[in-house]
Amino acid sequence: KSPIGIIGAMEVEVNSIIAKLSGEESDSIAGLLFHRGELEGVPVVVAECGPGKVNSAVCAQIMILKYSPRLIINTGVAGGVGVKIGDLVAAECCVQHDFDTTAMGDPLGTLFLRRGGDSEDILKLPCDSGAREVLLEEARSIYGGAHAGVIATGDIFVADKEKNRWLGEKFGARAVEMEGGSIAQVCYMNKVPCAVLRAISDSANDDSPVDFPSFAKETAEKSAELLIRAVRKL
Ligand code: ADE
Repeated sequence: KSPIGIIGAMEVEVNSIIAKLSGEESDSIAGLLFHRGELEGVPVVVAECGPGKVNSAVCAQIMILKYSPRLIINTGVAGGVGVKIGDLVAAECCVQHDFDTTAMGDPLGTLFLRRGGDSEDILKLPCDSGAREVLLEEARSIYGGAHAGVIATGDIFVADKEKNRWLGEKFGARAVEMEGGSIAQVCYMNKVPCAVLRAISDSANDDSPVDFPSFAKETAEKSAELLIRAVRKL
C-alpha cells in the first residue's frame, strides 16, 4: 500500500514522528535519510529535508519517485502573520513570496511551470482540502487556535514587522516559512496531493531571533503530535 510522505525541515520537526515508527528502515539518498515504517499502523515515509526551497523540493521529488506516496504532508513551525505563537495553521494554498519577476510585468509570486510542450503560470499552489479538514478538525478538538490560510514560503527567515505586514497584505498570508511552497510545487507538478501543517514558533518580527529558539521545539512537537493523532484518518 502506498505510504503517506512526511517532510520536516529540522530535526525537532520530525524526530518525535520517527521515534514512533514501527518496523523502521531507512534509505540514504542525496544525503537525505528516508525513514520507512508504520505510524499508528499507517505506512509512512519520513524525512528531514533541511531548510529552504531547494532542500525541500529535492526531498519531495525523491520521495515521489522512490516511494510513490499517496499524500505528502509538510509539518513544522512557522512565523505567524496575524496569528499567535502556539497557534496552528493548515495551508489553504501556498505561495512563494520571494519569486519575483515583477520587473517583467508579472504579478509577484507567479511561477512558470512546464506542462508537456505547454507552460502554465501559477501563483497559488493548491493543497488537498480533505487532508486539511482532517488536520484542522483534529487541531480544533485539542487546541484553541487553529486556522486555515495562505502559507507564504521563501528562502528568508522573516524577522521584520514591515515584511510581515506586507506578506499579509500582498498574499493574505497567515504564516511564513521556508519549505511549504516548494513542496507544494513539486507535488503539483507530479499530481500528488499535499498538505502543509505549521505551528507558530514566532511572530516573524523583531522578537523572532529570541522567540524562535525559545519556542521552536515545543511548537514543532505540537505540529508533529497533531499529525500523529490524525494520521489514521488521512
Ligand atoms: N519558520 C519559523 N519562523 C520563521 C520565520 N520567522 N521566517 C521564516 N521561516 C520561519
